[in-house]
Amino acid sequence: MNKTPSKTKDLGAEHATNAPELTEHSYDGIQEYDNPLPGWWKSLFWASILFAPIYYFYIHSGAEGRSIHDQYDTHMATVFELRFSQIGELEGDRDTLLKYMKGEKEWLAVGKVVYQTNCVSCHGSDGGGLVGPNLTDDYWKHVRNVEDIVQVIEEGAANGSMPAWKNRMSHKNQIVLTAAYVASLRENPVAGKSPEGKEIAPWDQ
Ligand code: HEC
Repeated sequence: MNKTPSKTKDLGAEHATNAPELTEHSYDGIQEYDNPLPGWWKSLFWASILFAPIYYFYIHSGAEGRSIHDQYDTHMATVFELRFSQIGELEGDRDTLLKYMKGEKEWLAVGKVVYQTNCVSCHGSDGGGLVGPNLTDDYWKHVRNVEDIVQVIEEGAANGSMPAWKNRMSHKNQIVLTAAYVASLRENPVAGKSPEGKEIAPWDQ
């Protein structure tokens, strides 16, 4: 039953010269050409296997600055530094907050980005509250004046149920502009979580 490699010669003169060798084995009379994958393919195969653990241990080892998230934060910090050079160091006082709350939308948008990235999981994307309170109504637990918002964001509240953001933001301006954005949410009250805390006066009174 075993057909010999010489059988390839029967395929004609043209094939006989180009046809690959047959392998030694034969199953039920079926034979296989010895047709190995090209060297470049095999090198890529082994290279990708070798690369995988190196990549995994480098990126996912937990070392600071290497993960995609850390790289994103570093880039965002650079972007913020560049943009903030236009407005200098903001103070979290009443005048500054009211100015940016009502002022150029471009700067409020920075606060909005920070809010959308860090706060929506607990306060909802419209500010109506989920785990954390509704930030669009007139009832507040820790805030009486607009500048108290900066304080709550920096220090947190309720033993960390509201996390402290002081050390998580690369620039104080991020906190001030986020506070201005949070203050602006009261302009569009949404029927989210029911009111908590005390009713307070409008920010500019
Ligand atoms: C892990 C959930 C969580 C995240 C994330 C979170 N908060 Fe909160 N936040 C809370 C909780 C809970 C409270 C209410 C604390 C309490 O009951 O005393 C709160 C309270 C507040 C208050 C005071 C509200 C009031 O009624 O006085 C402000 C302002 C606030 N958060 C802003 C923010 C901002 C801005 C961010 C994002 C930078 C943020 N929070 C992220 C959970 C969160």
